[in-house]
Amino acid sequence: MPKERVLASLDIGSSKIRTVIAVVDGEKQVERVPSVIGVGVSPSLGMRKGHVIDVEELIHNIISSLEDAERMAGVPVNHVFVGMSGSHIESFDSRGVIAISGSEISIEDIMRVLEAAQAVSIPQNRRILHIEPKSYAVDEQRGIKNPTGMTGIRLEVEAHIVTGHIQHVKNIEKCIDQAGVDIDALVPATIAAPEATLTKRQKELGVVCIDIGAGCTGITVFEEGTILHSVNLPIGGESVTSDIAIGLRTSIDTAEKIKIEYGSVLPTEMNERDMIDLSSVSKVDTQTISRRYMAEIMQARYYEIFSLAKAELTRLGRAGMLPAGAVLTGAAVKAPGVIDLARDVLGLPVQMGFPVDIGGVIEKVDDPAYATALGTLIWGMRDDENAVRGSSFQMKRAVKQVSSWLKSLFP
Ligand SMILES: Nc1ncnc2c1ncn2[C@@H]1O[C@H](COP(=O)(O)OP(=O)(O)OP(=O)(O)O)[C@@H](O)[C@H]1O
Ligand SMILES: [Mg+2]
Repeated sequence: MPKERVLASLDIGSSKIRTVIAVVDGEKQVERVPSVIGVGVSPSLGMRKGHVIDVEELIHNIISSLEDAERMAGVPVNHVFVGMSGSHIESFDSRGVIAISGSEISIEDIMRVLEAAQAVSIPQNRRILHIEPKSYAVDEQRGIKNPTGMTGIRLEVEAHIVTGHIQHVKNIEKCIDQAGVDIDALVPATIAAPEATLTKRQKELGVVCIDIGAGCTGITVFEEGTILHSVNLPIGGESVTSDIAIGLRTSIDTAEKIKIEYGSVLPTEMNERDMIDLSSVSKVDTQTISRRYMAEIMQARYYEIFSLAKAELTRLGRAGMLPAGAVLTGAAVKAPGVIDLARDVLGLPVQMGFPVDIGGVIEKVDDPAYATALGTLIWGMRDDENAVRGSSFQMKRAVKQVSSWLKSLFP
């Protein structure tokens, strides 16, 4: 096994395609920290709300993001872990049970029980993207996080299963393939963003990660160290921009520019006489608009997003009840005042989601916008070492291991 391995991740967002390349120490098996050596970003003009709308454009954007990161890292990338977002991504919980022989529980037993949990009927147009074990039970003993090495006669798993629309997923896979890289695994953004930004302690105490992107908002709730719930809402920064364009009668491009440059969600902190001359950012829009009015428009939409997040927590019986509060990720959470607004609406402590446990060129990725790309990479790294995960990547590898073992039996 090489001492160091290079891993790469690609976050296919609706606004940006982000690539992260990192070196992982191949020797230390516990608490490894990836060291970032390359970062790339390109606009995402071929995607909308998690759907491919222009194949050629998406391929071009993926290549450009990858090349950016490869140039910085000085190494080529042949395969990537892929972070995926979009409102077509859904989740549900499932249970799997298998009989075990009474000998020590092995990785193969875990694979079998995770496969059993996936043996549920899902609509023909959906595909399982990810399976996250929540907890295991061995005979009567419940709440086990990793049963490898234990003994018993019955192994049970409670798992969180994430599915995606088969056609949307296939389209993305095809574009990545045509961009010239292989896919190690697909990682839903609702799994990835928390992986990069939440600590073990926060997950133990109870926490929600709210990832506000362009086309959608991912919500992931953790309690007692495991995932409780994940959901994608079809609303995000793009909706904020549309509201500004409609409210101020400007083009979408101008609305996006002034939102990023002059936006805020705290209108009461704005001076009523503070005006923006649109001709300074646009050739087509020439009027003068009130900064306070724009903040009112933005506040209304962000208020809606956090109210929807709160409604999800209410449905789970966790509204105002998560001791570690909310962690916000995604570029759209960078609007001034978002933390205060979220705190008021959610009734929870709120903080910005910066990456934890990352080394290397961190200044490039020390940004909530990189949570999904980094989390996808960290997830890939842990997947490699953590036998209790049932990812498609690990499944693929385990299947490869089993088939090479079978081949050795039948030369
Ligand atoms: N400083 C800022 N203030 C407010 N909004 C911002 C800021 N910077 C970026 N945004 C908004 O954030 C959104 C993009 O977020 P992000 O890059 O996380 O999305 P994405 O991952 O590409 O999309 P998605 O996750 O929905 O597929 C855009 O709507 C953009 O307008
Ligand atoms: Mg995103």
